[in-house]
Amino acid sequence: MAHGLLAGKRGIISGALDENSIAWKVALNAKKQGAIFTLTNAPIAMRMGEINRLADICEAQIIPADATVVDDIEKLYAQSMDILGGKVDFVLHSIGMSPNIRKGRQYGDLNYDWFLKSVDISALSFHKFLQVAEKMDAINEWGSVVALTYMAAQRTFPFYTDMAEAKAMLESIARSYGYRYGKLKKVRVNTVSQSPTKTTAGSGIGGFDKFYDYADKMAALGNASAEDCANFVVTLFSDYTRMITMQNIMHDGGFSNVGVSAEILNDFAS
Ligand SMILES: NC(=O)c1ccc[n+]([C@@H]2O[C@H](COP(=O)([O-])OP(=O)(O)OC[C@H]3O[C@@H](n4cnc5c(N)ncnc54)[C@H](O)[C@@H]3O)[C@@H](O)[C@H]2O)c1
Repeated sequence: MAHGLLAGKRGIISGALDENSIAWKVALNAKKQGAIFTLTNAPIAMRMGEINRLADICEAQIIPADATVVDDIEKLYAQSMDILGGKVDFVLHSIGMSPNIRKGRQYGDLNYDWFLKSVDISALSFHKFLQVAEKMDAINEWGSVVALTYMAAQRTFPFYTDMAEAKAMLESIARSYGYRYGKLKKVRVNTVSQSPTKTTAGSGIGGFDKFYDYADKMAALGNASAEDCANFVVTLFSDYTRMITMQNIMHDGGFSNVGVSAEILNDFAS
């Protein structure tokens, strides 16, 4: 499905860790749609080395940046504009991590230093991406910034612990900054609320495999894959969605509007 949707556009794609990452699929798709972009991830993630393979395929340069560090983000935009030859048209924030989840802490036993770390990495970093971009005037008019989120921001999922709070903040930042950046520069800011997806971040959540199957049986269309998500994200980067901003858009095969599905009820029939 190469339509040249992003022909002539420049961007920054964060969060590609390995070939399962949602950001990895977005990068492949953006390349196919004619965009040029830089790739970024936390310096520690570079050690895995997988991202070099993606960079080769996409003919993209990698700029290491810890998304919690403003200096790193300033360098990310400055170097991206230098490499790409001008301001960017799209930015993907595909970053999330909770030390509490990683270390198996229950919601009633959270470590608060780690909680702050979860919020810093998974939500505040989005504000930092936007604030730095505004101050450096790094995004063209009608540019598009997208962050990935999960429905635990609206409804409770016991295994999601402090990431639920982080995602609620992330979505709120999309609304608040979307208003500001829209008025200032006609830059759009949205979050995409994705189905459970088998990635490093997803699979790190306790009971993920069972929940993945449950969501798949609940959703009218089944779970949206990472490839499906990438298809959708590139439309948000394109000029075909110019008037969408400040939204949290469900990309979940209909899961969020299903009360219960016949398949799930059948599982309880004895
Ligand atoms: N997998 C799912 O089920 C699912 C569902 C909905 C939303 N999401 C969201 O999608 C996004 C991407 O996750 P994914 O599922 O592709 O998993 P992933 O593990 O492949 O990606 C997460 C990325 O965050 C990066 N990261 C962590 N700390 C960072 C830091 N300090 N600075 C810069 N980068 C940092 C990691 O290196 C990694 O590349 C996350 O925001 C996640 O919450 C995932």
